[in-house]
Amino acid sequence: MRTSTVTAAIAFLATSLTSQPQPVPIAGPWRFSTVDRPDHARTDFSDASWALIRSGSSWERQGFDKLDGHMWYRARVTIPSTLRDEAEIKGAIRLELGMIDDIDQTFLNGALIGLNGTDVPPGTQADTGSLAPIGTKWNTARSYTIPSDDPRIRWDAENVIAIRVYDSGGPGGLWSGDPRFRPLSLSDVLMIGHAEAPFREIDGGFEKTFDLHNRSSSIQIRGSLVIRVVDGMNGSELSRSTRPLLLAPGMTSPVTERLSRPNTSTLIVYQATVDGFERSVVSQDEVPYVLTPLPNDAPRINGPSVVGARPDRPFVFRIPVSGERPMQYKVDGLPKGLAVDQRTGIITGRTPERGVYAIQMHAQNAHGRDERVITLNVGDKLALTPPMGWNSWNVWGLAVDQEKVVASAKMFAQKGLADHGWTYINIDDGWEIRGDDPRPKRHPDGTIVVNEKFPNMKALGDSLHALGLKFGIYSSPGPLTCGGYTASYGYEQHDARSYAAWGIDYLKYDWCTYSRIAKDGSRAELMKPYALMRSKLDAVDRDIVYSLCQYGMGNVWEWGAQVGGDLWRTTGDIIDTWESMSGIGFDQVANAPFAGPGHWNDPDMLVVGWVGWGPRLRPTRLTPDEQYAHISLWCLLSAPLLIGCDLTRLDDFTLNLLTNDEVLVIDQDPLGRQATPKLIKDSIQVWTKPLANGSTAVGVFNLSSTARQVRVDLEEVGLPTSVNFRDVWRQRSAGRFSGTATFDVPRHGVVLLRTIDR
Ligand code: GAL
Repeated sequence: MRTSTVTAAIAFLATSLTSQPQPVPIAGPWRFSTVDRPDHARTDFSDASWALIRSGSSWERQGFDKLDGHMWYRARVTIPSTLRDEAEIKGAIRLELGMIDDIDQTFLNGALIGLNGTDVPPGTQADTGSLAPIGTKWNTARSYTIPSDDPRIRWDAENVIAIRVYDSGGPGGLWSGDPRFRPLSLSDVLMIGHAEAPFREIDGGFEKTFDLHNRSSSIQIRGSLVIRVVDGMNGSELSRSTRPLLLAPGMTSPVTERLSRPNTSTLIVYQATVDGFERSVVSQDEVPYVLTPLPNDAPRINGPSVVGARPDRPFVFRIPVSGERPMQYKVDGLPKGLAVDQRTGIITGRTPERGVYAIQMHAQNAHGRDERVITLNVGDKLALTPPMGWNSWNVWGLAVDQEKVVASAKMFAQKGLADHGWTYINIDDGWEIRGDDPRPKRHPDGTIVVNEKFPNMKALGDSLHALGLKFGIYSSPGPLTCGGYTASYGYEQHDARSYAAWGIDYLKYDWCTYSRIAKDGSRAELMKPYALMRSKLDAVDRDIVYSLCQYGMGNVWEWGAQVGGDLWRTTGDIIDTWESMSGIGFDQVANAPFAGPGHWNDPDMLVVGWVGWGPRLRPTRLTPDEQYAHISLWCLLSAPLLIGCDLTRLDDFTLNLLTNDEVLVIDQDPLGRQATPKLIKDSIQVWTKPLANGSTAVGVFNLSSTARQVRVDLEEVGLPTSVNFRDVWRQRSAGRFSGTATFDVPRHGVVLLRTIDR
């Protein structure tokens, strides 16, 4: 980590001033050029003819539709010397740019100050070649520390920020966050590392060990750390502990805290008070709490009540049943060509001719029995309910390999996820040969070469099917994927045939470098590559669910079904922050009319559990309440549910989030309507979703940063004036309400309900 080395070398000086100078936003206007020239960094360069652009949103979202490669951003800002003179911590200031997709070279007044998240010393020469080999940091916020005496800063005068951005494919640019200069404060020196540390489940409670770190090379930290546990709803203190704080410059010291397991929203507030500083460092955490009662030992058949397939295709379906094993299965009404294994409950064979088949499933164990009719609808549509599965991207990124995929599939079976309807195991990018690898990317006959991390795709497919699971894969209609791996352009038929040979059941097809091929940003050009691949998939002997991924360009929801898409991404990539998740989730409004059985809006994959987009994983940065809000909102939206975490590290909390059948059934409802907001007021949103049986699912969300008591006027949100609600996370009655209903909703949290009579 070069950043911290440079930071540590700066002689920080502490002052005891009480008021910090305000950060200085780089409000722009930001200017944008698609021409790549080194003199764009220069202070005296005139950018007056460049296009205007906003920071905080990819260039694709702003109408620069088909752009990959090297682009430039420029903006001007005055840096007041108060940032230097009146800061709590002197010696440096910080430039924050937010997230940049994929790679940046950042210049201040013509001089390079940062490269892809790493500070560079004065005098460093900028490389004018391709930035592609550096490797993407698309989901990392760029923050550069500049010493106050650095000649690159012009104090109290206009400064020019120029950023050269390289984007390999997909959305590009300064896509999230607000660029600004800010003074340093004690919290830049004293790090309370609780956010990166997991809560470990111990008997009756949790334990958490994290580091306190003094990043300064000159400041002694002496004071105290108070840890308070408070009720997430009313703020009342539940417990408090105080420990001394003594950290020499550069020192790290671990802290372990233990707490009992709560069953409601609970916060931990860390407050470090340091001698010589008036303001303390305060940081907040939330404790995981499980709302859902444990499933019964007796059998319960879960999952969707309708399954779609096409005639005369290979078929695999694992009856999703929770309850103690061993379990015996019996199925009545199976059409000819299909058979069930009575020991595993896995139905296999070939689908019958077109028609609607009511299949009676029975499951029995030592504690009881359950039965349920599942309708097999053999026709043109797959994905009659939103697909549920796991995808490798949010967890492993390009570091995915066969072992990790197999481990995930085993967890579907072992941890019981498959018993609640989780079905697909999908490999995302990274299974092909990289574009810049000298080895052949295709065999002489055109079939794609699989890289060494996936020694045998066919065997992998067989092993997933043997567990009753389905197998998904990823490619791009362009020459390369977004990660720079070989993709399908010109070889669509070859690839569709390979997929069939491996037993693929799901394809995510990601626009990426197709920008280089498309003639323009017209709808016809956007549709073309997707329609082409669909025709190739239709020609092979498999039912392949088709997931379009092009970040919502050209309002894909208006035409995704026309090109044979079963689902389509409506947004850029999600990351595990409240801003990202809520920004995407609560924005899914205009596309609602286009969701329905066989064609779903996809607001991107789930960000709960251990995630990382690469080899190094960490617990999601979403708080427990934000995770409840995330799953609730995605289920209300009828969104495809693709888990993006390490399944070998599922804790009780994450498992409870992913296996509550009363919650999942809202997502899997056969009517397939997408929820819409019925009330948006003062950071409160109420979304409702009509369900097939005539009842309504209701999410009461609190988007503010403090807990709220929310009074909902039932008529205002389109509900009957007298209604019985069930709290579906807790799986118990929430009571009968007339006229209005009042709920306690934690910060960034939700109460998810379902009406149980009309
Ligand atoms: C992005 C896509 C991600 C992931 C990635 C792989 O464009 O949105 O979900 O598939 O490419 O490189």
